[in-house]
Amino acid sequence: MRRLLVLLVGGAAALMACSSKSSSSGDDAGTPTGKDQATVEQGKTSVVSRECVKCHGQNMAGAVQPIVYPATGTPDPNIELYPPNLTPDANGIMSWTDDQLALAIRSGVDETGLELCPQMKHFSTMNDYETYSIIKYLRSLPPVNQKILRSVCPPLKTKQEQQAGK
Ligand code: HEC
Repeated sequence: MRRLLVLLVGGAAALMACSSKSSSSGDDAGTPTGKDQATVEQGKTSVVSRECVKCHGQNMAGAVQPIVYPATGTPDPNIELYPPNLTPDANGIMSWTDDQLALAIRSGVDETGLELCPQMKHFSTMNDYETYSIIKYLRSLPPVNQKILRSVCPPLKTKQEQQAGK
């Protein structure tokens, strides 16, 4: 009886260890989903597969010329999109926290809580693993000292604000 109890207790402990492990390592297929599993390598893959590089540039240092928007059809004359510098420079993401960056990527809100131009699409279903992998990758990049002009997407961001150097 005593032995059985030991076995039972041991089994329960093993089960608990097992279930806590599987919750941090993601779904049944073993795909990582957690922040703590983020890797620079995954981030590097994601900025290409998610097409961040198409707008923010291969080096993620932003666009000095506005990008053509929309990519096909007639460009909207009221919209001027300058994808910002996302390298760890003073002109880039140096002052942003990881969580602020995650919010920008997934919810389109900047580090001050203001909405970003909606043309920067919201990656709302991106899991923590991928989001924080991208952030880790951005922080691993060589800083590029390049100032990017503010975007214009009225009524959210106006030409006047851009001209005022905001
Ligand atoms: C269609 C082009 C486009 C794509 C694709 C795109 N972005 Fe952006 N992104 C922008 C533009 C334009 C802004 C600036 C919006 C604004 O100023 O309101 C922006 C802003 C940001 C910001 C806020 C930075 C700041 O200084 O304000 C972050 C962070 C960001 N993008 C990350 C990403 C990541 C990561 C991806 C890929 C998962 C991505 N973007 C894909 C165009 C794009």
